[in-house]
Amino acid sequence: MDLEEIKKNVASEIEQARSGDELEAIRIKYLGRKQGLITEALKSIADMPIEEKKKFGPIIQKAKADIEAAIKFKENEGSSDDFIGDITLPGRKIESGHLNPITKTENEVRRIFEGLNFSVIDGPELEEEKYNFDSLNIPADHPAREMWDTFWLKPEGSSLAKNSVAVKKKYLLRTHTSPVEIRYMETHEPPFQIISPGRTFRYEATDSTHETNFHQLEGLMIGRDISLANFKFIVEEFFRRFFVGKKVTVRFRSSYFPFVEPGVEVDIKLDNGKWLEVGGAGMTHPNVLRAVKYNPREWQGFAFGFGIERLAMIKYGVPDARLFMSGDLKFTKKF
Ligand code: PHE
Repeated sequence: MDLEEIKKNVASEIEQARSGDELEAIRIKYLGRKQGLITEALKSIADMPIEEKKKFGPIIQKAKADIEAAIKFKENEGSSDDFIGDITLPGRKIESGHLNPITKTENEVRRIFEGLNFSVIDGPELEEEKYNFDSLNIPADHPAREMWDTFWLKPEGSSLAKNSVAVKKKYLLRTHTSPVEIRYMETHEPPFQIISPGRTFRYEATDSTHETNFHQLEGLMIGRDISLANFKFIVEEFFRRFFVGKKVTVRFRSSYFPFVEPGVEVDIKLDNGKWLEVGGAGMTHPNVLRAVKYNPREWQGFAFGFGIERLAMIKYGVPDARLFMSGDLKFTKKF
């Protein structure tokens, strides 16, 4: 094959190469140490008379350099995404995924409470009426059930109806994370301290501080001689670590939840001087302790349930709770 033809072929082959591997195959075909077409041509120079050496040597050397340069150029050009660019080129921007700020907040909360010796517990989002309400001192006829607008699941009609002895269990999307308290107490002996962050659902109208699908941070500490003072210490310490560098003022307002006595609402003061409610808390009600067969004379505890969206809104200055679940990447990418 004559040199001009080789040069023409190699040029179109390089042009058509679609990956680094294809380009490497071309390099081997022409410049490979064993039987590369150009390599062989270079070797043949050794046997040529001196005049021809002088004439062809530089031409073949130049062809070799041209092919090397063309391959390199193609690699750098990166016209196909398979090509690995020249490491000296400025990198192309790599799009990376972002954690949703709720996930980020949850992770921070876990880390802080683990540092305070709490265990992190998980619970089901699809819950039984018994755990979401009854065992929390909210029987079916209790007016307080109206505090939690509930997404009920359709009862499992036919199969249960046929079975006359089956007690119908009612299922719902948990309206708060408090059922995890019951599940945990049923299977563990005190003393302990746990948190349980997770998704909760309420069948209600949305606005800038309410979403039908939101997240709560449940906490429960059961032991001997536990009082609200222990809660005050833990909650202030948590806020101090969570809102790093910010001055946080906490306020308890007397409130009512059937599963605590006394019950409080926890507010924190924002930079603008306004108070924002972050959730409820209180001393675990004796009826709740009895429901899980703890002796209320022996064990006491505090429980709290904070809105994770609220915490994230305050920490990151997010104006609307609906942004978190909006799936809007422009929003998520800010975190
Ligand atoms: N579960 C309550 C709610 O979602 C919050 C709460 C938790 C209040 C624990 C007191 C104790 O409204």
